[in-house]
Amino acid sequence: MKQYNNGEFRKKDIGKEYTVYGWVNKRRDMGGVIFVDLRDRSGFLQIVFNRSFLKNDFALAESLKNEYCIKVTGELIARTDDMINPKIPTGEVELMVRDLEILSECETLPFNVYEDKEVNENVGLKYRYLDLRREKLQNTIKTRAMITSSVREYLNNLDFLEIETPILCKSTPEGARDYIVPSRINKGAFYALPQSPQIFKQLLMVGGFEKYYQIAKCFRDEDLRADRQPEFTQIDLEMSFANQEDIITLVEGMIKHVVKKVKNIELSDFPRMPYKEAMERFGSDKPDTRFAMELNDLTEILKGTKMNVFNNVIESGGMVKCLIVKNNGDKYSRSDVEHLTDFVKIYGAKGLAWLKYDNDTFNGVIAKNLEDEKLELMKTTYNIENNDLILIVADKAKIVYDSLGALRLKIANELNLIDKEKLNFLWVVDFPMFEYSETDKRFKAMHHPFTMPSDLDKVKNDKENCLSIAYDIVLNGYELGGGSVRIHDPKIQKIVFDALGLTEEDIKAKFGFFIDAFKFGAPPHAGLAIGLERFTMLLSGTDNMKDVIAFPKTQSASDLMSEAPSIVAESQLEELGIKVVEEEENA
Ligand code: AMO
Repeated sequence: MKQYNNGEFRKKDIGKEYTVYGWVNKRRDMGGVIFVDLRDRSGFLQIVFNRSFLKNDFALAESLKNEYCIKVTGELIARTDDMINPKIPTGEVELMVRDLEILSECETLPFNVYEDKEVNENVGLKYRYLDLRREKLQNTIKTRAMITSSVREYLNNLDFLEIETPILCKSTPEGARDYIVPSRINKGAFYALPQSPQIFKQLLMVGGFEKYYQIAKCFRDEDLRADRQPEFTQIDLEMSFANQEDIITLVEGMIKHVVKKVKNIELSDFPRMPYKEAMERFGSDKPDTRFAMELNDLTEILKGTKMNVFNNVIESGGMVKCLIVKNNGDKYSRSDVEHLTDFVKIYGAKGLAWLKYDNDTFNGVIAKNLEDEKLELMKTTYNIENNDLILIVADKAKIVYDSLGALRLKIANELNLIDKEKLNFLWVVDFPMFEYSETDKRFKAMHHPFTMPSDLDKVKNDKENCLSIAYDIVLNGYELGGGSVRIHDPKIQKIVFDALGLTEEDIKAKFGFFIDAFKFGAPPHAGLAIGLERFTMLLSGTDNMKDVIAFPKTQSASDLMSEAPSIVAESQLEELGIKVVEEEENA
């Protein structure tokens, strides 16, 4: 067995013989002497092949190429003064090789493993096992493993049981589309892969386990973004006889423990913010609080203005809000602002009105049309100063929040306003119970239909203002995780299902077995799930989720290395009773 970590040799180890293993990271042939950086998981050790010291034929050392996998035995010696490299931890020593054994040769590489340079993403994914050898991915995957091991350590200490739940499940409607798996034995019937272990973890509470957790695989067939993968992992937990406060205390403790272990940082207590405040101040339910530039309300100030773009919106119940880009007006030309206008249109905004304040006056098209007293009121209310840029959206609340929330982040990135060293955790609480779906013309559960409402009367009579006992943990503008207190009383569950317009048959077909379980003495319970990939991304300082998954999928949900998904044999389909319908050409 391999006994030593190459990256751990120091001066104190000099004078003894060692056998070390690893990959040829880089070699320098000085004619008669060959230097190799021998890499393993822990780092590098310089090994030296000297014609007069090596027992093997020197030609064997000369045949070494990058990424050959080798075993060498030799004596650890001090480097001569001119060879000391203070930049690497093993920079004062080197191994003078006596015996060389080539364990595995390496063909011409598609990219250099040792280089710091980014590899073309598709090439990296095709040869993922080579990309994984590189330092960046070695580090992120190690961080991920440290997170899961410290989560286990924390929760095991608190008497939580790690319990696995099925991967082949019944399809139950959650937020996203299911991945479905055909059954050979029950032709025409399908399993679904779990979008989360939600139903099972609640049934484990009914089953009397009290404290459950799982590092759980989840599958969602949804449109992919940089922070979403079709197959991802949750740190999933559930606890009986617990309320919101208990879950928040538990999870906050767990996160502090993990961050201490992984980053050696002591976090202070996490602030909390109601959903409504987060939307009003940041235009987002996952606000990035590492910088200010909050949304400012202009609805009251602009009430009654003769400018119809604003007045019509206000009169029809909409709102006007703005961002004030402090002391950076000169960075945005007219055409830059036009680009920002195109950007907010992605979020449904019809336009982006703007003002610049300079030489103690407002400039811009709308400065001429807005009443002086309105401009003056804006200036004094929000302390507008020279070189400020004011960007305004007037629309329905959702469009104003979505567009200005996204614009706030875009501008902060452009102007480098974000301190990337910060870890700003935040609890967002008091989520609405329902959200109105314009497409379906009905209220839907904002979290899921098993979330406890905070007020039963409102469930029946005032859905718009009904809150739920649900909470999200947010980190640096990402939704890291979310959870809720669950409904354990069938009477309350029935009221919520009624409010969602679900009929008895719907309920029976969709979650009959689940609802039945609550008739048999279900304990009150609550829980939460954290996205492991997002947590790892943020602790590793990358914004690409693929960097924290050993074998990730592309935006089109394929694995470029194994070429999954792929066509299967006709005989496999026959066995499953499945026929693939060819898409008609030109259809
Ligand atoms: P939710 O759907 O909010 O809650 O998911 C919890 C966390 O999982 C992560 N996540 C994802 N990560 C990567 N790719 C995806 N496609 C993806 N989707 C979600 C996010 C998210 O915050 N059962 C509930 C939790 C509960 O109530 O206990 C649930 O799944 O970080």
